Amino acid sequence: MMRQAGRYLPEYRATRLDKGGFLDMVHDPATAAEVTLQPIRRYGMDAAVIFCDILVPPAAMGIEVRFEEGVGPLLDPPVRDAAAINRLSDFDPDVATAFLGAAIERVRGELGDERAILGFCGAPFTVASYLIEGRSSRNFENTKALMLGSPELFDRLLERVVDVSIPYLAHQVRAGADALQIFDSWGGALDEVTYRARILPSLTRLVSAAKENGVPVIAYLNGCHHLLEALADSGADVVSIDWRVPPAEAIARIGDRVALQGNLDPCTLFAPPDVVREKARGVLDAFADQRGYIFNLGSGILPKTPLESVAALWETVLT
Ligand code: CP3
Repeated sequence: MMRQAGRYLPEYRATRLDKGGFLDMVHDPATAAEVTLQPIRRYGMDAAVIFCDILVPPAAMGIEVRFEEGVGPLLDPPVRDAAAINRLSDFDPDVATAFLGAAIERVRGELGDERAILGFCGAPFTVASYLIEGRSSRNFENTKALMLGSPELFDRLLERVVDVSIPYLAHQVRAGADALQIFDSWGGALDEVTYRARILPSLTRLVSAAKENGVPVIAYLNGCHHLLEALADSGADVVSIDWRVPPAEAIARIGDRVALQGNLDPCTLFAPPDVVREKARGVLDAFADQRGYIFNLGSGILPKTPLESVAALWETVLT
């Protein structure tokens, strides 16, 4: 279900009330394992996305990261000049994010070997955009200003993000992750020429280092219609697509080079269960001949999603 797996579940909301905030849950391996498993217990999916966030590495680099109700993530101070980039620290994931490995080990203990655990991190552009903007952004003004106005600084920031993400992903695989997903959620804000010239080299470096752990790597980008070939060129084994790309087109353009994942519109789940079944069946049928396909939503599940629609979805996909 990609992101915010928990918020639509009453058991998640109850755990969160009990444990404090979102980051407190992430930092406590027993709680993180519990909320990772909640949707699996209810619906029986065959893979669990470990409960964590793409903004955990920025916090380990010394940035204050908070999640504010109704606002979203807030990072302080924003990273917009050489001094701020120089202040970003390296971290040893076995120490600074030991909670994550511990959570993965706990999930493995409960899931057994039949179901996969997905580790993940943010892609260099998406993480850099949070560092630069200090929050979620619609237009990425500061990010694009730095990219265009101070290209060496921007490239150095991407490089720092990749440098810390490589051992961070290796830590997750050592703990038991079976596959790694790299989220370039906001990469669609760039045109293809810019994406290829300025972003793809660092994404490719991260993907290639991630693959050295011996696990498949999935690349996701929201708004990927114009970037399908670029994503496949990153070397990822799987490209995870949003709902705007017609399945037949994704298959025709990159389906011979990579496996595909996606692409049900998460808002489909606000329709009545019968419609959800029909739409999910439509996606499954559309990818039936694709060699290598993983069912997924085209973006994160939304907090107010009705449970009966989620149940209808998994009945359809898993039977
Ligand atoms: O689904 C899961 O629970 C798996 C773990 C996971 C989370 N975030 C937990 C989370 C994953 C894989 C993510 C990825 C993530 N985080 C992305 C990339 C995926 C995508 O959808 O594009 C991005 C962009 C983020 C950054 C982030 N974290 C945002 C924008 C938000 C939402 C803030 C808001 O208030 O709307 C978060 C918070 C977050 N991450 C929650 C969860 C369960 C919600 C926490 C809560 O309110 O309880």
